[in-house]
Amino acid sequence: MTRVLFVDGAGERGGAERVLLALARHLPARGVDPVVAFLADGPFVDEVAAEGIAVLRLGVAARLRSPWQLRVAHRALVDAVRSSGADIVQPVGEKMALLAGWAARTAGVPAVAWLHDAPMHSVGGGLTQIAVRFTPFAEVVVPSSWMAAAFARWLRLRPTCVLNGVDPDDVAAAPVDVRSMAGWPPNSVVVAHVGRLQHWKGADVFLRAAAEVASEFADARFLVVGGALYGWEREYADSLPALAAELGVADRVHFTGHRSDATALMASVDVVVHASRKPEPFGLVVAEAQALGRAVIATRTGGPQELIADGRTGVLVAPGDATDLAQGLRRLLASSEARSSLGAAAAEAAQRTSAGAMADAFVEIYARRRRPTHV
Ligand code: GLC
Repeated sequence: MTRVLFVDGAGERGGAERVLLALARHLPARGVDPVVAFLADGPFVDEVAAEGIAVLRLGVAARLRSPWQLRVAHRALVDAVRSSGADIVQPVGEKMALLAGWAARTAGVPAVAWLHDAPMHSVGGGLTQIAVRFTPFAEVVVPSSWMAAAFARWLRLRPTCVLNGVDPDDVAAAPVDVRSMAGWPPNSVVVAHVGRLQHWKGADVFLRAAAEVASEFADARFLVVGGALYGWEREYADSLPALAAELGVADRVHFTGHRSDATALMASVDVVVHASRKPEPFGLVVAEAQALGRAVIATRTGGPQELIADGRTGVLVAPGDATDLAQGLRRLLASSEARSSLGAAAAEAAQRTSAGAMADAFVEIYARRRRPTHV
């Protein structure tokens, strides 16, 4: 059996963690034994452990600006790589790539970096990515062709594209009835923005678009599923209810906060919206909505452009443009037939982004990258 040691930082369940869990669940049937090392503790660590996946809790802080913390984290990671008997180390995200890449090198084990953030998207992220560029990896994997092209252009990397996969078990979970949850009439047509609350993810654009169409569609209700994650941009998340009030739609909007069962909520809404202003590396919510057979609207950027055939398996609108998003919403709010036909075509297209296909692709990578065994 090949043993893969995943290294994750957060302990909170964002998109990168959801695909990590989907991958880890699908590896044992393919002869790969996953172990997940977490630098920090958090609710996601227990969720992974509860599934019977081996977990290592390193309990170390690793601020990149603190040389002392980095030394301690490096030692803890080298020990984890050695004691786990890993054949491959697979860090999740650029910061973990930097830390675990060098730790794997010290321990003499090949590392496969799995990157989830767009290149040069923020100053801090960009500097980390430049450092990742000079870290020794056997292979670098990104979740979309858009990401592969962007990393080639910005950082002269040649990453392998493995599309993120949606776990059929997550999609099969019993739907949560969002109408009764929010106290809305049962015949409400519900449009949901799903994603962590950060300015670039565009929940405010969604609220503005909702305000543009609310008076035209009396049955329409708007759900914001997500919260501030990883401790980022709390003020932005906190500012959104006030924005809804200012736009005059507070009584039509419900905020759920972060939900680890977001797919079960999505299963009972009519339209899923992804409103990113900047290129989305992949857009897991889009793939999840498609797997659930939902009508989905996303911005014409990065991953969602690859996932959606505009007008057939979803609708693409201009990024950061509430009026264009409102126009897309009108098309879907006006016709339940349009929603069902988009949803049906989306469900079919979603086979491309299954967790099984993702796991198959990684197993091939492990086979060509694992350190040769001497018997
Ligand atoms: C990050 C990206 C998102 C992607 C996810 C998994 O959360 O922002 O686009 O779907 O990672 O790769």
